[in-house]
Amino acid sequence: MEQKRNSFTGKIGFVLAAAGSAVGLGNIWRFPYLAAQYGGGIFLLVYILLAVTFGFALMCGEIALGRKTGKSAIGAFKDLKSKYSFIGIIASIIPAIILPYYSVIGGWVTKYLAVFITGGMNQASQDGYFNSFISQTGSPILYFLIFIGITSLVVLLGVEKGVEKVSKIMMPVLIVLTLFIAVYSMFIPGAMDGVLYYITPDISKFSAKTVLAAMGQLFYSMSLAMGIMITYGSYMKKDVNLESSVSQIEIFDTGIAFLAGLMIIPSVFAFSGGDQAALGQGPGLMFVTLPKVFDFMPGGSIIGTLFFLLVLFAALTSSISLMETVVSIVKDKTGWDRKIICGIVLLFSIILGIPSSLGNGIWANVKILNMDILSLFDFISNSILMPIVALLTCFFIGYIIKPQTIIDEVELSGKFKRKKLFVVVIKYIAPICIVLILLTSLLQAFGLFTI
Ligand code: TRP
Repeated sequence: MEQKRNSFTGKIGFVLAAAGSAVGLGNIWRFPYLAAQYGGGIFLLVYILLAVTFGFALMCGEIALGRKTGKSAIGAFKDLKSKYSFIGIIASIIPAIILPYYSVIGGWVTKYLAVFITGGMNQASQDGYFNSFISQTGSPILYFLIFIGITSLVVLLGVEKGVEKVSKIMMPVLIVLTLFIAVYSMFIPGAMDGVLYYITPDISKFSAKTVLAAMGQLFYSMSLAMGIMITYGSYMKKDVNLESSVSQIEIFDTGIAFLAGLMIIPSVFAFSGGDQAALGQGPGLMFVTLPKVFDFMPGGSIIGTLFFLLVLFAALTSSISLMETVVSIVKDKTGWDRKIICGIVLLFSIILGIPSSLGNGIWANVKILNMDILSLFDFISNSILMPIVALLTCFFIGYIIKPQTIIDEVELSGKFKRKKLFVVVIKYIAPICIVLILLTSLLQAFGLFTI
């Protein structure tokens, strides 16, 4: 592949690049609806606990694997123990499954941006607007094609760097704007109950499902268990402090997810008159709620336009990096021309993306394991494949190459302060929890067990 791997210049460069991949629709769109659905405060608590244990250990492990070998997923596992390169292969399939449905949601964001630009905010804030949009046949597919089209064009032209630069400027603006909207929506009459729901853990709402959902979200949001962080690690210089970089990426990612929840959940309470059923909206939550907030806000149509523009950028940087990953894996394997591979990946994404979109409309009665098509892809990647890859990675680090290999790598750049936590999580806690959770989720999906 590359003659010489480029490295990030320093710690800030590394942290921003990894955080840039991590922050996306996962934080702004996915986290709030899961938190709303799975009991608010209790979900938040479980998520944070998982982030500082599982997330921390796995991210240290993945980045160190990459930095040690200087390779991306398949190569990294192969270098250390060739028999285990299959872990890298399974990990590499995940971005290909995520990309199509990620782009369907990206299409929804594009549509909302278009509606806000053309002055349709009032319409978009009406009840039923979102559902009637996603259940159409042509329009959501058109926006999906626009989104995946832009993504492919950037990957094809190799101008990611340009997009990244723009997004580095836009990301801080997005954070400030999210903070502003969050504060604003907390003060909408009736929203305080929502704030309490979001930050107060209610143990009675705890279940195995909460942990499963939080864990899947953790992997998804931090781009873990799919080889991405291994690749980022391969670009990291040996003298950059690995442990504190991981902490910073996590704080960044979790902070934005937290703010996004604060922006959306309290306003659900405010606009539903305290009707808790509105919390179970699922994937549409952001699209249903935010236009109402903007409609309520003076100057909301301008702020809303800016907001959807920024979210679109965050989504595009993620989809570009997802597609780039898939393209470079295929390129490494086959050596084919980049243009041809881009075309194939685009075609593949369209073939999987169109059914994901239709599953909300004319194909709504196509249910597999009781899920619509988009949710099924989301389930396969987040609740099945990522836990499997995470489990295999823990096993690989804990028992094949041994944690000491990772510790040595981390310690090249300073003391590994949470070394003990790392070893215990990787060897014992993570594998046991993942197996339990995976089993429950499988049994449940096949209707053999209900929690
Ligand atoms: N973490 C991204 C988000 O929160 C989504 C994502 C998953 C991703 N896997 C990725 C982004 C791979 C870039 C590369 O939206």
